[in-house]
Amino acid sequence: MERTLSIIKPDAVKKNVIGKIIDRFESNGLKIVAIKKLLLDRASAGEFYAIHKERPFFKDLVDFMTSGAVVVMVLEGENAVKKNRELMGDTDPKKAQAGTIRADFAESIDANAVHGSDSLENAKNEISFFFAQTEIK
Ligand code: CMP
Repeated sequence: MERTLSIIKPDAVKKNVIGKIIDRFESNGLKIVAIKKLLLDRASAGEFYAIHKERPFFKDLVDFMTSGAVVVMVLEGENAVKKNRELMGDTDPKKAQAGTIRADFAESIDANAVHGSDSLENAKNEISFFFAQTEIK
């Protein structure tokens, strides 16, 4: 059993497809063990994506992630980190396999519908960034 962090990004929230995306997780054996909808401020978005702060796309990423509400979730299941990334598809929706969340709901590499932790270690850090232990059931 693993846990991973998923974020439904502002583009997908604005498109009103929160439920459709959550259905992909639940239909594929992942359980939502924590969930909240919130508006990130620039400091929190920058801290969350600190690993990318030297990348040329960092400012656009922070602009985008603070442009509207997001839904943050903890997903639990067997091989949750890998399974979530398979369900999401490639970071760039143009390269994402048909039937993946990004192929079906995303527009561009910036507005790419979802974020998912890329390793078990990062998942632990990203989960504790958003959730207290008492909020995960
Ligand atoms: P995410 O999985 O949330 O992690 C960092 C985000 O930066 C990524 O999804 C993309 O939305 C965004 N991004 C923009 N340009 C790039 C790029 N060239 N490579 C990787 N991520 C990028």
